[in-house]
Amino acid sequence: MTAPEQIEVRRLEGEVLREQLDGLAAVLADCVAGGASVSYMAPFSHEDARVAFAGFAREVEAGRRLLLAAFDGETVVGTVQVLLSFPPNQPHRGEIAKLLVRRSSRGRGVAQALMARAEQDARAAGKTLLVLDTVTGDPAERLYARLGWTAVGVIPGYALYPDGRPCDTTVFWKTL
Ligand SMILES: CC(C)(COP(=O)(O)OP(=O)(O)OC[C@H]1O[C@@H](n2cnc3c(N)ncnc32)[C@H](O)[C@@H]1OP(=O)(O)O)[C@@H](O)C(=O)NCCC(=O)NCCS
Repeated sequence: MTAPEQIEVRRLEGEVLREQLDGLAAVLADCVAGGASVSYMAPFSHEDARVAFAGFAREVEAGRRLLLAAFDGETVVGTVQVLLSFPPNQPHRGEIAKLLVRRSSRGRGVAQALMARAEQDARAAGKTLLVLDTVTGDPAERLYARLGWTAVGVIPGYALYPDGRPCDTTVFWKTL
């Protein structure tokens, strides 16, 4: 399976990232409205999502994370981040966070394209080990297994869905 031809993954930083805050926020708000357990509780507005991404943009500016976005034309349809900043004894480790694809663009390989670029850019940033966690039983779990990630195990009741129901989490790792 290859990335859809019309999808372009770009690394965003600085002014270009700030210009895309509304597009990124729209993807996050859509995912939370769809019930994704990605840190936030309902009700979650576009403005809430914009505040979240403005915070991520500050982290990018500080060199503590990478932020990638998938574009269909000039519209942001997906995004992912690589956390880079860990204690001094883990300089080789990164973490994948906030892999999000808007509902109307799913099932076309957008997430797979984002993950391929995230791993490539993490490697270029000197990372040789990545970790992530995701809701057990959600589509993302299948994606990570398909992309060669190893599941460590399940933590029961780790987080909540936006509506307050508890969900289990599966922890994954991958060497680059
Ligand atoms: C998880 C998530 C990012 C996946 O995004 P996506 O772009 O739909 O992912 P992909 O298209 O790469 O893969 C999804 C499915 O489409 C299939 N697919 C991909 N390209 C395809 C194509 N061209 N034709 C047919 N099927 C295709 C994949 O095989 C996969 O199948 P599966 O569900 O049986 O595993 C998305 O569902 C999402 O944003 N969920 C909410 C947020 C979330 O849970 N994020 C993870 C946090 S860790």
